[in-house]
Amino acid sequence: MNRHVRLGINIDHVATLRNARGGEFPEVIKAAKVVEESGADLITVHVREDRRHINEYDLENILNTVNIPINLEIAANSEMIGIATRYNPKFVCFVPENRKEITTEGGLDVVKNFKELSKNLKSLLKNEINVSIFIDPDKEQIKATKDLGISSVEFHTGSYANAFIKNKNINKEFKKIEENVMFANEIGLNCHAGHGLTFDNVAKIVSLPHIIELNIGHFIIADAIFNGLQNSIIKMRNIITQASI
Ligand code: PXP
Repeated sequence: MNRHVRLGINIDHVATLRNARGGEFPEVIKAAKVVEESGADLITVHVREDRRHINEYDLENILNTVNIPINLEIAANSEMIGIATRYNPKFVCFVPENRKEITTEGGLDVVKNFKELSKNLKSLLKNEINVSIFIDPDKEQIKATKDLGISSVEFHTGSYANAFIKNKNINKEFKKIEENVMFANEIGLNCHAGHGLTFDNVAKIVSLPHIIELNIGHFIIADAIFNGLQNSIIKMRNIITQASI
């Protein structure tokens, strides 16, 4: 039997669309329920400092309504850590944040921010929240993440996804992920991946046997406009299952 790769569906952009009009549609909670019913393993949301999509009310509502775990993405600062410890999701992923960026453009620099991360992590670990860090595929970042004493990394697949779009350097970008996933696994880190993943580029990432979780958002919400959220998630789930060895 193929291994089960956990699939987290990021529903931030349902809230982006809602906030475009400031009302309540499309309802984030309805999307969360569809994600659960479609067989995804996690609901992933990013509460950004500028609350441009998901806010605390959405987070609370999702936590109170669905039964699958929440993976909360946050910047590693005291305000956001406070939100994480208040709501206690099962998973937290630290991501870098820059107000001017359109999306999370690169991984967190764990080497540079080691001291602060080490301090900020404590209350999450005390609450038994599983913490991962979103990093670029880079050995020094992996080693620093391991030294923080956390168990998981999420590899930023954005450069690989962009290579796919341009049909240029796909193998080079893939090799970078492959080598770093192998290294992270060797030193005992669980390997997750995400960013820019689509029906076409996901199988290669899943073919890496140490990848145990994927978080996918923008493409799924975009595809859902044409095919319906449930169909888009089920299609992604099937591609992942078939590519899992
Ligand atoms: N994983 C993390 C840590 C993210 O911050 C994001 C969103 O930027 C994703 C996965 C999902 O990326 P996308 O929306 O491109 O699928």
